[in-house]
Amino acid sequence: MTTITRCTSPGQPGWLALRTALWPEEEEEHLAEMRAFCAQPERYAQFLACSADNAPQGFVEIALRSDYVNGTASSPVAFLEGLYVAPAFRRQGIAALLVEKAQEWAREHGCSELASDAVLENTASHALHRALGFTETERVVYFRKLL
Ligand SMILES: CC(C)(COP(=O)(O)OP(=O)(O)OC[C@H]1O[C@@H](n2cnc3c(N)ncnc32)[C@H](O)[C@@H]1OP(=O)(O)O)[C@@H](O)C(=O)NCCC(=O)NCCS
Repeated sequence: MTTITRCTSPGQPGWLALRTALWPEEEEEHLAEMRAFCAQPERYAQFLACSADNAPQGFVEIALRSDYVNGTASSPVAFLEGLYVAPAFRRQGIAALLVEKAQEWAREHGCSELASDAVLENTASHALHRALGFTETERVVYFRKLL
């Protein structure tokens, strides 16, 4: 049995470790972002999935974006900023539960669209998005030039 809890402080057990598994940044960078998100609960939300014996299983982070979001037609749009389930807990419907929770929060905040992205080679993530009812809108390659 998985329970989903909103993270209201950077000290939420398991959140930092799962975040670091998805994004290998320095701990201080994570903590600064986590603090900033928790300080703006109307704009950002984070949910953690834990097993019956309290093992952290995965997390989702969602934000309201008011700038233009590719492929959408409304504003603000809720955006899935991060989604991760630890390898031992995959294919048990945990990402589906986390996205359901994110959707609920987005609806409560007046959004009619939930957007997301995934790198071109992350075909597992593409499959997950399709399974959860997302439709693909665009494929993008980023460029930069040093000035
Ligand atoms: C992608 C990820 C979040 C999926 O988490 P999960 O808890 O295993 O997903 P769920 O069990 O809720 O999957 C729901 C459905 O999505 C699809 N799906 C999920 N993972 C899949 C995979 N690896 N290959 C194909 N389809 C997949 C399936 O249709 C699945 O239903 P099924 O198991 O009944 O077939 C997880 O693999 C992960 O954390 N990957 C690394 C980080 C990542 O890529 N995050 C997304 C960045 S955009």
